[in-house]
Amino acid sequence: MSLAVLASGTGSILAAMVEADLPVALVVADRLCPAVRCAVSHDVEVLVVQRESFGADFDRVGYSTVLADRLTDHAVTMVAMAGFGTILGQPFHDRFAGRVLNTHPALLPAFPGWHAVRDALTAGVGVTGCTVHLATLEVDAGPILAQEEVPVWPDDDEASLHERIKVVERRLYVDTLRSILDGEILLESVFEGAKS
Ligand code: GRF
Repeated sequence: MSLAVLASGTGSILAAMVEADLPVALVVADRLCPAVRCAVSHDVEVLVVQRESFGADFDRVGYSTVLADRLTDHAVTMVAMAGFGTILGQPFHDRFAGRVLNTHPALLPAFPGWHAVRDALTAGVGVTGCTVHLATLEVDAGPILAQEEVPVWPDDDEASLHERIKVVERRLYVDTLRSILDGEILLESVFEGAKS
């Protein structure tokens, strides 16, 4: 497996993957962000495929094609999104169908979207969590590979709850990738099974 990790944030999940000796061959960021520094400090090759626009004129299909091409150039076979801030379009999912993973800070299908932690707090749930899943064109809707609950405490704010969820994500995502590497999770079966 030659794994690319896509990140836009602090990169703490990326760091957990590298420190767990997962075969991270490449880190890709869509902007300059702390995750880039994290890759450099861990001696992992990093590419910034700069996103030129965050507005309505963003060429999602064009960007997705460029990103897929860059990963193909680097002989990447599997992609793990870890806090990546760009929703990728059809060309990317066509190229890497069934080989793109994501982690989401809620128990999907509950609280999809960018504000999962805030939405869970607003809804007043006593338990939320995180989900590692196969990413498909439909955002936060691909087949679920692993989930773990995290309790919400009465004095939680978005930052404290998110950090407690991320502690679990760092372990759960690494363990899930390890199970894929070890052949205990067969992504092809999961992906094909979800289609039928
Ligand atoms: C994680 O909570 C992930 O689920 C979400 O973004 C966060 C990334 O955290 N999509 P970090 O940048 O790895 O610290």
